[in-house]
Amino acid sequence: MPHLTVVFISLSGNTKSFVKRLSEYLKSNQDIDIHQINVKELNHETFPVKEPFLAVLPTYLEGGNGIDDGDVEILTNPLGDFIAAHDNYKNCFGIIGSGNRNFNHQYCLTAKQYSKRFGFPMIGDFELRGTQADIERLSAVILETYKNFLER
Ligand SMILES: Cc1cc2nc3c(=O)[nH]c(=O)nc-3n(C[C@H](O)[C@H](O)[C@H](O)COP(=O)(O)O)c2cc1C
Repeated sequence: MPHLTVVFISLSGNTKSFVKRLSEYLKSNQDIDIHQINVKELNHETFPVKEPFLAVLPTYLEGGNGIDDGDVEILTNPLGDFIAAHDNYKNCFGIIGSGNRNFNHQYCLTAKQYSKRFGFPMIGDFELRGTQADIERLSAVILETYKNFLER
């Protein structure tokens, strides 16, 4: 596996930091190059992603409790639009959610919603920028899920 594509959005930089550190880890440990697509930098432009990719998505829900209300999401919608466009979702082998556990039931809720909406699995989550332990733990899950996706 020479390279792996990661599609993400990051508004305050946490997810971007995670993807950068994940990329460095996979390069030095597995010699895998990560191709990063930061949807925030695309200005709503979309294009087909022809290879399998991982999505990483933070959570920005407005109010509510995540159970019977409070699942209104605006800020990260460009990632959903990008994944929906050109049937890109068919090449997404999994999504990782990021968020903050202080939000209780709303923790990483948007990634869970994407998993249901598009039919790809949610393969993990992390808080804020993620720790080194998160990077190592999630790298193993990412590689395993990617392998299974290719063999399906
Ligand atoms: C206005 C606002 C709303 C948020 N809502 C949620 C939420 O509903 N659930 C959650 O898990 N995290 C929530 N968070 C935490 C963010 O998902 C978290 O800070 C994340 O790391 C931001 O990623 P980014 O820096 O890449 O944009 C919220 C943060 C802000 C500023």
